[in-house]
Amino acid sequence: MTAQEIREQFLTFFKEKEHAFIASSPIVVKDDPTLMFINAGMNQFKDWFLGNGTPSSIRVCNSQKCLRVSGKHNDLEEVGVDTYHHTLFEMLGNWSFGDYFKEEAIAWAWEFLTEVCKIDKDILYVTVFEGAEEDGLKLDSEAYNFWKQHVAEDRILMGNKKDNFWEMGKTGPCGPCSEIHVDIRSAEEKAKISGDQLVNQDHPQVVEVWNLVFMEFNRMASGELQKLPAQHVDTGMGFERLAMVLQGKTSNYDTDVFMPIINKLESLSGIKYGTKEETDIALRVVADHVRAVSFAIADGQMPSNTGAGYVIRRILRRAIRYGYSKLNKNEAFIYSLVDVLADQMGAFFPEIIAQKALIQKVIQEEENSFLNTLAKGIDRYNNYVKTLSGSTIDGKFAFELFDTYGFPIDLSQLLARESNLSINMEEFQAELQQQKARSRAATVIDAGDWTVLKQGEGVFVGYDTLETETTVLRHRKVTAKDKTWHQLELEETPFYPEGGGQVGDVGVLVFGEEKVSVADTKKENGVILHFLKKLPANINGNIKAVVSGEKRKASAANHSATHLMHKALRDVLGNHVEQKGSLVNSNYLRFDFSHFQKVSKEELKKVAEIVNENISQNHSLKENREAKIEEAKAQGAMALFGEKYGDKVRVIQFGESVELCGGIHVNSTAQIGKFIITSESAVASGVRRIEAITYEKADELINQEFEILADVREQLKNPKDLKKQVASLLEQNSNLQKELDLLQKEKSKGLKKELLTKITEVNGVNFLAQKIDLGSADTIKDLAFQMKGEVNNLFLVLGAEVKGKPNLTVVISEELANDKNWNAGKIIRDLAKEIQGGGGGQAFFATAGGNNLAGLENALEKAKSIVH
Ligand code: SER
Repeated sequence: MTAQEIREQFLTFFKEKEHAFIASSPIVVKDDPTLMFINAGMNQFKDWFLGNGTPSSIRVCNSQKCLRVSGKHNDLEEVGVDTYHHTLFEMLGNWSFGDYFKEEAIAWAWEFLTEVCKIDKDILYVTVFEGAEEDGLKLDSEAYNFWKQHVAEDRILMGNKKDNFWEMGKTGPCGPCSEIHVDIRSAEEKAKISGDQLVNQDHPQVVEVWNLVFMEFNRMASGELQKLPAQHVDTGMGFERLAMVLQGKTSNYDTDVFMPIINKLESLSGIKYGTKEETDIALRVVADHVRAVSFAIADGQMPSNTGAGYVIRRILRRAIRYGYSKLNKNEAFIYSLVDVLADQMGAFFPEIIAQKALIQKVIQEEENSFLNTLAKGIDRYNNYVKTLSGSTIDGKFAFELFDTYGFPIDLSQLLARESNLSINMEEFQAELQQQKARSRAATVIDAGDWTVLKQGEGVFVGYDTLETETTVLRHRKVTAKDKTWHQLELEETPFYPEGGGQVGDVGVLVFGEEKVSVADTKKENGVILHFLKKLPANINGNIKAVVSGEKRKASAANHSATHLMHKALRDVLGNHVEQKGSLVNSNYLRFDFSHFQKVSKEELKKVAEIVNENISQNHSLKENREAKIEEAKAQGAMALFGEKYGDKVRVIQFGESVELCGGIHVNSTAQIGKFIITSESAVASGVRRIEAITYEKADELINQEFEILADVREQLKNPKDLKKQVASLLEQNSNLQKELDLLQKEKSKGLKKELLTKITEVNGVNFLAQKIDLGSADTIKDLAFQMKGEVNNLFLVLGAEVKGKPNLTVVISEELANDKNWNAGKIIRDLAKEIQGGGGGQAFFATAGGNNLAGLENALEKAKSIVH
């Protein structure tokens, strides 16, 4: 069975059992500060498990893209070393939200594996939670009894809390789980040791394939477990592992999920898979990582220096490093695997085909720039080694190579061995640990339990009003990055939570006499959180929630302008333009989009014209909050890759611009005022960025520019044609400069004659140290070189004042420099001390600038002492 068919079989099986299929959500998480990437199939349903919102269906199945870069085996540095862990993998899952529970979950999992997939029962083991005293939990005898109906009892194993109690995080929904493991070892191996001894023992051929989680508790911040009001099922099966079993392989990488990529890699590198452990690991690393990076880019996450983008950059760099040091690839090559990946995965994940050109460009550019950095690192290493005394490389330096230049430690060790050196590994490890601790500390979010004042679900009313009477449903205290906030959920709120690029609303909550500022609003797992620095004295009773209208107006104008610009960009540049990032606040808008070259001045002008035309046409907002996604798309609404849409979407239309969007907009485009593009730049290869302003900020800019213009006009005595006048002044200036240069040259000719007569011979050296009256460093250099060409054995030191600062020039004839072992660069550093300056150059010519004009004479005197 091909991997495609396996996925299909799984989904069909559960669809037949009345499960609704829900597409994989993008892997980059947008509204959950505790999570950067989707790491389990259940993430997109977290809101439902937490009781926020109602499930669209009580039975669901899916195949979810997941990304794991930390954890026991998914620690990035470990992936590829073994044959069954990955950064990006697919998790097949079936879900019950308050519907069926253990009995059906167990029976169906067993039916699917043994009857549909026809896996031999004798290679399967299952585990059951043995209980945990500290949580007051007993053996999961319910699960045990259901398993007994299908599986021989000696194949039902007890599992501890670590393996058999699944928790989403430090707090939140959790419950006991049952895992299904396969033993795919040979009969000989099995005869030596029985499979039940190897379950959960990190054996590469006795692996977990499926985890059935029975969610029945909520873990509180205090550690206490509370029973959930309803019981749920969350199952997750490793798609690549299932493919391994069904395709009769002993490694995930040998399946058709990875082999096409590995084959392509073999032909690119000329290195065969399966010949040497070292190169096998490298091939696995690259084959794994190109998938993670491609899917992240397809979902809108570009490699960058911070947050999720940095994780993606690290993954890609690790693949480049392996290619460079183990597969002899010192040119970009990973991007050329994307074609194979698209053929392989595109049918189920169309985003990978739609975004292919962009993914290739971005990866190629990252590869080139990182290969450059690697080369620089090697230079840095060579320079370091030159100055090293002893034979041990400092661990701190090895860490610098690792951190700044991306060198894996084994690459540094290889370099060290080649130069008969070793690395202080203890020191290196200590630095590494410190860095890990720093990044952990930066991301720890400590959320207290909710204090519930009133049951209910918060409702957003901010599309229609800026002010509402409401009550507080619940509040909690959260500490992150050393800041403490009180987060409140309101029964009704006009506050827009950050999303779709638009910043969250600010404003006040009025509790009777007391007003408390709302510093920010965000959405987390479907809940709108109002961020307060302090709680009011009395939080109970009716309150008034008031959004700051001015800020809201300005960001609405920027958001609507973003839509108009998106459409205008597609009209002017073409339909390949797609949003890749957006920021909208009350000051400006920033819009990143796919486009492969710089947007020209004319194109920008055209875009701005179209937007301003649309503004003056005063299109009114047409909003449909309950559109069906398919209908909206058919209507031509622009949907974004990397966004998660439900069945019902909000459609925003201004004239011809139609987008799916949850943000805040103006009522009609005239409210945008004026639209001005302030910059256009590159973000990454194939991604451009435009920044623009509207409304009051645009008026301010226009007024400022008018004022500057008026001042300049006045300074130039109100010429008729200002542009012409400035151009003619610039021309005059450049002519004068040319004349000045000529005069300096003339002067230097005369000066040269005079200086030649002043040279004296001292101990076989033709020497002159002289202050001269020339004001251009270039002319002085020219003069010095001319003299060097005309006089043998010359040691010349010139001092001058250039633009009010002291300047020194030293020239030494080659033969003299060699005979006496003199070096102009060294000499000038010494002389420059007198003018409080510094400089340098080569052995025969050097210059220095300084701050102490009065020191010039001393410097010249000092020069004399060298020859005398
Ligand atoms: N949430 C569980 C896991 O990630 C099952 O899907 O293993």
